[in-house]
Amino acid sequence: MGAVRTYALRALGGLIGVAGVLVLGWIGWLWYESRLPNTYGVMEYGSHDHGGGPVPRGGHHSGISVADLRGPRAGAADARFTLTALNATIRLASGREVEALTFDGVSPGPELRVRQGELVEVTLLNEDVAQGVTIHWHGVDVPNGEDGVAGVTQNAVLPGQRHVYRFRAEQVGTFWYHSHQVSSREVRRGLFGAFVIEPAQPTRIDLDLALAAHTFDGVATLNGNDGFQSRKISSGASVRLRLLNTDGTPRRFTVQGTQFLVLALDGTDLNEPTLIENEMLEIAGGGRVDIAFTVPLAPVWITLAETEVGLALNADGVTRPITEASAEFDPSSYGEPAETPFNASNRFDRRFELTIGRRPGFLDGRPGLQWTINGGIFPHVPVFVVREGDLVHVTITNDTDAVHPMHRHGHHLLVLSRDGAPVSGSPWWTDTLNIEAGERYEVAFRADNPGIWMDHCHNLRHAADGLTMHLMYEGVTTPFKIGDTTHNEPE
Ligand code: C2O
Ligand code: CU
Repeated sequence: MGAVRTYALRALGGLIGVAGVLVLGWIGWLWYESRLPNTYGVMEYGSHDHGGGPVPRGGHHSGISVADLRGPRAGAADARFTLTALNATIRLASGREVEALTFDGVSPGPELRVRQGELVEVTLLNEDVAQGVTIHWHGVDVPNGEDGVAGVTQNAVLPGQRHVYRFRAEQVGTFWYHSHQVSSREVRRGLFGAFVIEPAQPTRIDLDLALAAHTFDGVATLNGNDGFQSRKISSGASVRLRLLNTDGTPRRFTVQGTQFLVLALDGTDLNEPTLIENEMLEIAGGGRVDIAFTVPLAPVWITLAETEVGLALNADGVTRPITEASAEFDPSSYGEPAETPFNASNRFDRRFELTIGRRPGFLDGRPGLQWTINGGIFPHVPVFVVREGDLVHVTITNDTDAVHPMHRHGHHLLVLSRDGAPVSGSPWWTDTLNIEAGERYEVAFRADNPGIWMDHCHNLRHAADGLTMHLMYEGVTTPFKIGDTTHNEPE
């Protein structure tokens, strides 16, 4: 009996040993194959998902290069700017100093304002930002070669180098620009600014102000001011405020003392906006909300929620009321429906699923709880492949308990539904969609801007941790590469 038992125990021990080796081997393999090569191209990773559309034959290696998908190279520019990237110490209104990365020594960088139809030319000079810099025109659907993504559409501009962007301003609205090289660090440190495209014949507005919310070293600011900025303005004056959230997490604004209209979301006007009041405005990381009102006799406060930071109009000596917003602004039911170039009842050429999840695993050899897209950890994420002209449907699901502001470059998405409920108000176009924990959105877009486009979470820390993928047009290639030897590191 004893001998049999000893034998059984030995055999069991042996099996556990073998299983242990297998598990370790398997974990080792997961670690090994998660590592990114020193240098790689976005053409070479992920699994191509054609969304039920035709699969191109002969691969993607013939065709047009993103380097040839530039804006107009010739012709005199209508609006010309130079932005110099440099390290600088900036001083907030409270006197607090921040070691920042800046355009032209300030953060936010200079506000760029142009008119619709103008040919815009921006020269980027990098004075001393060691890791290199690019400029991405967030929300502006520029030609792919002007998109400013290091390692995808250009090389990072290293100290002493320059790069010239040229594109025609075709949309109207509130956008922003920021570095897309090591963006999780460079945007946080200050390399961003507002970019406003006015209509060709602007209507007169007494005060038209872009206000960028940003957190520097844990301190909330609005246009670099960490307190209330006060202004005097006569009652009856018209005001348009372009609220931008340049942080990665949602920011909320309250408007006290006046009714207001929500004119635009992510740079696209809403149809027939109606006056609202006491509604909290939530803006996705990277998103924009434009509001308008007529200055009343009493003071008005626009406050970054949960802070003492904001804009106070005619409030000298008046203390801000403590009333809080009673409701949350809901873009899915605001304004009136209108014709759109396509809608949920169209036949779609491709349908994609984009499901965000989280699980333990290795990201480039590092163990941890990782973000996943359709179950895979970067680079095992899908690449959505489309053909120019396709009408594309995407279902985005957030199966995590975090918020993800998903940003698609080069295209505006029409929101069709949220959690199964169709959008019932104005058409709602977005480039940065806040997807709360557990939410599911259906969106649609026309593939009308050939290139290789990023699609990522604009909580840029999440993007650097792998919550990033690409939309690729059939036949488009890129000569640029990501990785150590190239200096290019978009996230
Ligand atoms: Cu504003 Cu890819 O980013
Ligand atoms: Cu995220």
